Amino acid sequence: MEQSIVRNKFKELFNEEGALFFSPGRVNLIGEHTDYNGGCVLPGAIDKGMLAEIKPNGTNQVKAFSIDLNDYAEFGLNEEDAPSQSWARYIFGVCREMIKRGADVKGFNTVFSGDVPLGAGLSSSAALESTYAFGLNELFNLGFDKKELVLIGQKTEHNYCGVNCGIMDQFASIFGKEGHLIRLDCSTMEYEYVPFNPEGYKVVLMDSVTKHELVDSPYNKRRQSCENAAAAIAKNHPEVKLLGDATLEMLAEVKDQISAEDFMRATYAIEENSRLVSTCDALKAGDYATVGKNIYATHKGMSELYEVSTVELDYLNEIAKECGVTGSRIMGGGFGGCTINLVPEDKYDHFIETAIARFTEKFGVSPKVYPVKISDGSRRLA
Ligand code: GLA
Repeated sequence: MEQSIVRNKFKELFNEEGALFFSPGRVNLIGEHTDYNGGCVLPGAIDKGMLAEIKPNGTNQVKAFSIDLNDYAEFGLNEEDAPSQSWARYIFGVCREMIKRGADVKGFNTVFSGDVPLGAGLSSSAALESTYAFGLNELFNLGFDKKELVLIGQKTEHNYCGVNCGIMDQFASIFGKEGHLIRLDCSTMEYEYVPFNPEGYKVVLMDSVTKHELVDSPYNKRRQSCENAAAAIAKNHPEVKLLGDATLEMLAEVKDQISAEDFMRATYAIEENSRLVSTCDALKAGDYATVGKNIYATHKGMSELYEVSTVELDYLNEIAKECGVTGSRIMGGGFGGCTINLVPEDKYDHFIETAIARFTEKFGVSPKVYPVKISDGSRRLA
């Protein structure tokens, strides 16, 4: 990403130079909507993200400019100072969550810009939170470790942005490692880097360019359904705290005590957790046929049981199948955004051309194509 755009704007607004920080967006190979259920996920950071220049200004005011939205915000650091612009609330929320944990965060000047497409399910918001969590931690010597920075980002979403998200996006953004996915157990935050270099395949995202805004979406309702099911199961099995601890047999016992909708959602979440385990085994064995089969099964589950897909994403999934793509599915929270595709190299060009032509013909707009490069997590650039 162009550092000079951020640098020039910062200089123009504040007539000085600050430190530059970057945090990436993420992909997730499999394990969707399992994080807040205490299950596992398999994300990786990408080479697109958020870049911010930051410099403490010796006051208690934050002066922030978003290049992409061409918008300026100025706010204090007390709870009642919350800015009205939603983009600024991410920065404010990070400061507040740090202060709540006893940190001495002071005012700063900042300019930021991103090349992770907004609302495409690539976690632009986590990239933004992680950039400020990581940057402020360093500039004010706050001493938070990386896991605490992850939680600060997640709590920002919960308390200042209205999304009861899990831990996956912020974790991937901060802990990302080039060429590796992260197998993360979301109940313990234990993790392992899994080398990911599928020889003979390309990983590509197809952006359905339909709007994806978790705040307005029924994301929180999905989470509630899962919690309802887990609470019903816990009556018979007190060791079950979240669906990540449950089996389909346990769920069957409470079928009559929960709504049909909650039952469907919980079935998906429990099955998805098993698919993740099976996919990790298959990856170790280099068995991409099984990886791909699981990825397609996740799409079906997200579409039919969890009901977070859209007609556009279902269509992209169908095209992928017809073009011999090994695995394809909707990625991220859902309700729009991208599919992730594991494509044999010799089928790649045909798939991309076909998907663009047929999608455009049906919906009157071309999908966007993003080749995936698994990259490093949050870092200081200068
Ligand atoms: C969003 C949330 C994550 C996760 C995914 C679905 O990206 O922020 O915590 O729940 O959806 O897997």
